[in-house]
Amino acid sequence: MSTDLAYVTETLARARAEVGKVIIGQEAVIDQALTAVFTNSHALIEGVPGVAKTLLVRTLARVLGCAFERIQFTPDLMPADITGTNVFNLARNEFVLMKGPVFTSFLLADEINRAPAKTQSALLQAMQERLVTIDRETHALPPNFTVFATQNPIEYEGTYPLPEAQKDRFLLKIQMECPDREEELNLARRMLGADAPERVLAAGAVEEVLAADELPRLRAVIETLTVREELLTYVVDIVRRTRKHEAVLVGAGPRATQAMLLASRVTAALDDRDYVTPDDVKAMARPVLLHRLMLQPEYEIEGLGVGDVIDSILRETPVPR
Ligand SMILES: Nc1ncnc2c1ncn2[C@@H]1O[C@H](COP(=O)(O)OP(=O)(O)OP(=O)(O)O)[C@@H](O)[C@H]1O
Ligand SMILES: [Mg+2]
Repeated sequence: MSTDLAYVTETLARARAEVGKVIIGQEAVIDQALTAVFTNSHALIEGVPGVAKTLLVRTLARVLGCAFERIQFTPDLMPADITGTNVFNLARNEFVLMKGPVFTSFLLADEINRAPAKTQSALLQAMQERLVTIDRETHALPPNFTVFATQNPIEYEGTYPLPEAQKDRFLLKIQMECPDREEELNLARRMLGADAPERVLAAGAVEEVLAADELPRLRAVIETLTVREELLTYVVDIVRRTRKHEAVLVGAGPRATQAMLLASRVTAALDDRDYVTPDDVKAMARPVLLHRLMLQPEYEIEGLGVGDVIDSILRETPVPR
């Protein structure tokens, strides 16, 4: 059976709605998380404690029929705690593979900056290769393997920041802000009753919109969406400008171009269009570029943020008609 774009769009709309039964507001965040999943990539999630980072990924796993695991990163976490080890089984007189939590579909890597580089790189290697090597034996990870790695925006300085080259492996960085007043009031009301977000999820009131093994077929449809030549130029121009901007110390590499194209196709699919528009690109520029730019220290002191630089690049780059 061939899958068409209308089915993909409808599935994405249902996924949005089901996640929305649990997560209040955060519409752009939900779309960005769906974008990571539907491009078969990985995402960083940044937000202060309690903005529902964990709840979002758990809910998404339920809605998309995917297995979910969480790893809390700590200074003493070892690579084998992620990947697994061979353990000697006395009864069977042989080594038996104990697979680590990485063998799942959706993996929440909580506070990735709390573990030292060696442990981080075990995860980053698994993300890149979709394989894990344990005692020289290679094991494939599930086809929908998607990492959501969280960072606390305030605390991660001074712990173990991800090396620039590793951050590049994440398709996008999702920034979760605190809810606005209306949403927070809504949350406060719900927390008192039976429709508290956690309870809605636990009660099974959230429906699965597709089975995990359908995901690859839907992704294949998204990959057929056309990107006009002028749009390619637009994306390349935006990425190249990040390298020339006066406030930027390190600009985005070519992977950013690829990421922006992949992501903007999902934005088009969310909107039931079989072609990408400049607005799709603009919507994805910020999450795709946020973690890939490093500012000159003197600009940071002046309080300029990476987001401001991206906004100014978007204002200056000629938009194709
Ligand atoms: N936008 C929201 N929609 C629904 N529930 C929310 C929202 N924001 C906060 N909550 C509530 O906050 C609780 C905490 O969420 P969660 O544990 O997912 O936060 P977190 O961002 O993972 O925090 P931490 O950084 O401490 O791990 C949830 O159980 C939920 O009740
Ligand atoms: Mg959490």
